[in-house]
Amino acid sequence: MGRLDELHRQSLEDPQRFWGEAAQSIHWYRRPRVVLDDSNTPFYRWFSGGELNTCCNALDRWIDGGDGIDRRRADQVALIYDSPVTNTVARFTYRELRDAVATFAGLLQQLGVGRGDRVVIYMPMVPEAAIAMLACARIGAIHSVVFGGFAPHELAIRIDDAKPRVIVSASCGIEVKRVIEYKPLLDRAIEMAAHQPDRCVILQRPMAHASLVADRDIDWHEGVARVQPVPCVPVAATDPLYILYTSGTTGRPKGVVRDNGGHAVALRWSMSNIYGVQPGEVYWAASDVGWVVGHSYIVYGPLLAGCTSVLYEGKPVGTPDPGAFWRVISEHQVTTLFTAPTAFRAIKKEDPGGAHFRRYDLASFRALFLAGERTDPDTYHWATDLLRRPVIDHWWQTETGWPVAANCLGIEALPVKPGSPTKPVPGYQVDILAPDGTVLPATREGAIAIKLPLPPGTLPTLWNDDARFVSSYLTQFPGYYVTGDGGFFDADGYLNVMGRIDDVINVAGHRLSTGAMEEVIATHPAVAECAVIGVADELKGQVPVGFVVLKAGIETEPAIVEAALVQLIREQIGAVASFKRAHVVARLPKTRSGKILRATMRAIADGKPVDIPSTIDDPAALEEIKGALHPDSQQPA
Ligand code: COA
Ligand code: AMP
Repeated sequence: MGRLDELHRQSLEDPQRFWGEAAQSIHWYRRPRVVLDDSNTPFYRWFSGGELNTCCNALDRWIDGGDGIDRRRADQVALIYDSPVTNTVARFTYRELRDAVATFAGLLQQLGVGRGDRVVIYMPMVPEAAIAMLACARIGAIHSVVFGGFAPHELAIRIDDAKPRVIVSASCGIEVKRVIEYKPLLDRAIEMAAHQPDRCVILQRPMAHASLVADRDIDWHEGVARVQPVPCVPVAATDPLYILYTSGTTGRPKGVVRDNGGHAVALRWSMSNIYGVQPGEVYWAASDVGWVVGHSYIVYGPLLAGCTSVLYEGKPVGTPDPGAFWRVISEHQVTTLFTAPTAFRAIKKEDPGGAHFRRYDLASFRALFLAGERTDPDTYHWATDLLRRPVIDHWWQTETGWPVAANCLGIEALPVKPGSPTKPVPGYQVDILAPDGTVLPATREGAIAIKLPLPPGTLPTLWNDDARFVSSYLTQFPGYYVTGDGGFFDADGYLNVMGRIDDVINVAGHRLSTGAMEEVIATHPAVAECAVIGVADELKGQVPVGFVVLKAGIETEPAIVEAALVQLIREQIGAVASFKRAHVVARLPKTRSGKILRATMRAIADGKPVDIPSTIDDPAALEEIKGALHPDSQQPA
């Protein structure tokens, strides 16, 4: 048995011991009473009775020492802000970052934020976003970061669910060359929301000046100028650190909760064991703090591990060219890059021969990790041929917070099989289940499920909604968490993740709900009914396409309705949805009982063999969908 298989076995046979040992890398004010608390299944808790502070573990411990930690990291760079869109590179040592965080935490406290209060953070990729997150952690407040590309309507839904006391935002973000004013979006969201925050803290950026609402809004810099830094507050290991909303199958996003103790232990473990990075090394996750990758591997993971993290405000291409990633790696001596395959497809499209790559000295660069969607073999081969370094596909999701399947470079580098994220990581027992819940043998495709208990760092529940946590994830297969992905194991135990088997799609590494888009489209007065499905896209992996049936008597030109729907999704969900195609059709394919055949539509879109259900109401409806999706094809539906 190889080392990975051996550790995997140990982690499942004796999780108490395995994670108890891992917990020793964390600074505790009070050691946990129990490692795995199964006194209230299926709500497992990790490290009950323990007290810690995540911000202390990420910052202060590297400065103030204790627990045998050397203090030399105080002057090591903790965070590099690299922003080609503003032509800025700024570095914060651990001490500087801690001081900025402690002061901002002082401001939050002065504004009435205490332990357990929520703070919504709606920010572009600036260091202040990370500072605000860590400041919440410092005082035991719960942050909820909302991705800046979401429109006011989506932000309002999250405000109403999280009920923040304070919202932290900025005057603007920059998308390549476009200045996007955030403040009017925030104001509109607050207008739409039923819940009203007490205060908003606004970072004024030089590219746009936000007008502040009297008695509610505070300028970030003015605010921090008049407060004192505050120390870390001990919190329970089981207290929430953050809520991160993610797309489910309906318009109501799921508030994934992350605890403090399990999260710190798991992320610290993952940095050395999965990514194989050591304290002092430079780690770069080219994502956004609004996504789970940004939470885990821009902010918390690298700092918990004493690394230097890069926070990049730019794109893989266009800022200014497809050499952007190579410039950052070379300039900051990055050892490990984590991004989404779509970023590599974008680079490949603009620089297929790698001319930009060859302009830089990449001696420091050791490995590339990809996640967010499956790494297709073409992208894998292109990246491997170009980089001549390990290219590691790894699979996880917002709910798990850290990788479920990966080639664990810090444990044992296994041979790569393109298209597979290798094997389950220690802590996760992954099974492939048939619809009746039986465990399928190798090579048989089914639902990918994880046997309970989930390891530390994974979601303990959904915010204020234990019932939805159980019904969404734990009910379909008792004793298991369902991931929403389908796939199979090969004969060597390598997992293959084939894609979502629900109404979630991944667009350029961004997770979106087709159900949410359908709810928005259904509000258009001309629309009788609709279906949105994800179709394959060469660059973005998937893009959404809508099919709508108009109400009887609507005489508006289909093209006009289609354009209006594109605009509606942009306004209500955000440009990030990349919803560019809507088709008016005479009818949607349905069963005789009226269920829309979305899976059949998806199969047509992907050019897969289509099993026409015997219960179909009107086969001609499928022909119409096929004609819209493949106008030049003769393929029978
Ligand atoms: N604020 C405001 N608008 C945003 C935004 C933000 N934070 N992020 C994206 N948008 C907008 C974009 O400007 C774009 O608008 P447009 O339709 O007017 O052009 C739209 O949302 C779609 O953005 P994006 O998905 O980024 O597509 P793109 O065509 O601009 O770039 C890629 C394509 C592949 C280069 C880009 O998606 C990318 O770098 N992806 C990597 C994703 C990633 O890191 N995911 C995290 C998981 S690891
Ligand atoms: P998110 O919650 O935004 O991280 O998205 C999680 C979803 O992205 C998963 O459920 C998968 O559908 C998809 N995903 C992430 N990483 C991979 C991967 N390496 N291979 C296949 N799908 C992936």
